[in-house]
Amino acid sequence: MNGFQDALKRAFKKHGGTITQDICPKHNCNKITVNGNEVCPQCKKEHDDMAITQKFYKDEAEYKKRIHNKIITEFLQTKSIMPKNLKNSLLDMSFDNYYPNTQEQVKNVHMAKNLIAEYNDGAEGNAFIQGKVGRGKTHLAMSMLKEFDGKGLFISLAEMFSLLNASVGASRDYPYTKEYFNNLLDQADLVVLDDLGAEAAIKDGRASGTTIQRLRPFYERSKRVITTSNLVPAEIESAYTSRVRSLVFSGTKNSENRILRFTDGNDYRLGGHAS
Ligand SMILES: Nc1ncnc2c1ncn2[C@@H]1O[C@H](COP(=O)(O)OP(=O)(O)OP(=O)(O)O)[C@@H](O)[C@H]1O
Ligand SMILES: [Mg+2]
Ligand SMILES: [Zn+2]
Repeated sequence: MNGFQDALKRAFKKHGGTITQDICPKHNCNKITVNGNEVCPQCKKEHDDMAITQKFYKDEAEYKKRIHNKIITEFLQTKSIMPKNLKNSLLDMSFDNYYPNTQEQVKNVHMAKNLIAEYNDGAEGNAFIQGKVGRGKTHLAMSMLKEFDGKGLFISLAEMFSLLNASVGASRDYPYTKEYFNNLLDQADLVVLDDLGAEAAIKDGRASGTTIQRLRPFYERSKRVITTSNLVPAEIESAYTSRVRSLVFSGTKNSENRILRFTDGNDYRLGGHAS
C-alpha cells in the first residue's frame, strides 16, 4: 500500500469513515464511505476544487457587473447636460414613478420598454418622442436611459446651446467647447436630445445656420439618439433643413417601437390626469 493510501486510512479512521475494497476506475484508489455514501477521495477533491473555481468566477462576474453599473450610473449623472435647478428632478424620473393615465400613455410606456430592450440587445438607430407639453416625453426618455445597459447621456438642447454659444470668444479654459461635446458624444452609447425646437435660437420657425451646424454632430457622432420635441417632422424640416430631419429619423424604421406620440391627455405640470 502506498503512502497516500496509508495517510488516507489514518485520516478516515480519525473521522470515522471507512475504506472500502471498491477501486475508483479513474484514479485507481480505494473508495471510502462517508455518512453512508461511497466516494473516491480524489474525485471528491477534484469536484470541490471545481466548485471553488466556479464560485470564484461567479463572484468575479458579479463584481464586474457592479463596477459596470457604477460606471454607467456615474456617466449619466455627471456627464449629462441639464439646467442645474432641474438636475435632481430629471435624474429622479423613472418608469417606477411614471403613472400612465390614458391608453396612449400605456402604449407609449410599453413601446419605451420594448425600445430599451432592443437597445440593450445591441440594436442601433434613432427614436423620436413627439407631443404636446407636459405629457411626459422627457420623463419617458429619462426612464429609458435609467434602464439602458451602457453609457447613456441626457442632453437638454437649450442648455447645450447656451453652453456652446458661450464658448465663442470665451477664455482659453472655458470647458464647454465643440471639442468637449464631440468627445462626450464619442463616449456615449445612447444620447437623449431633449426638447428639439425649444432653444431660444429659433426665430419665426427657423433655426440659424450656426444652430444647425452646432446641432448636426450630435446626430452624426451617435449610434442611438432619442429626440423629444413638440415639433412634428414637417416643422423639424422647415426649422432645421431636410438633412437634419433625416438625421433625427435615421434608423426609426428599424422597429415599431421607435416613434412615440402624445396626442391626448392633459399637461401633467398643471396637475392634469386623464381627460
Ligand atoms: N404619467 C406621468 N406620471 C407621473 N409624472 C408625470 C407623468 N407625465 C408627466 N409627469 C411629470 O410631469 C412633469 C412634466 O412632464 P415632462 O417634463 O416629461 O413633460 P414633457 O412632455 O417633456 O413636456 P415639454 O414638452 O414641456 O418638455 C414632470 O415633472 C414629469 O415627471
Ligand atoms: Mg420635456
Ligand atoms: Zn476517483
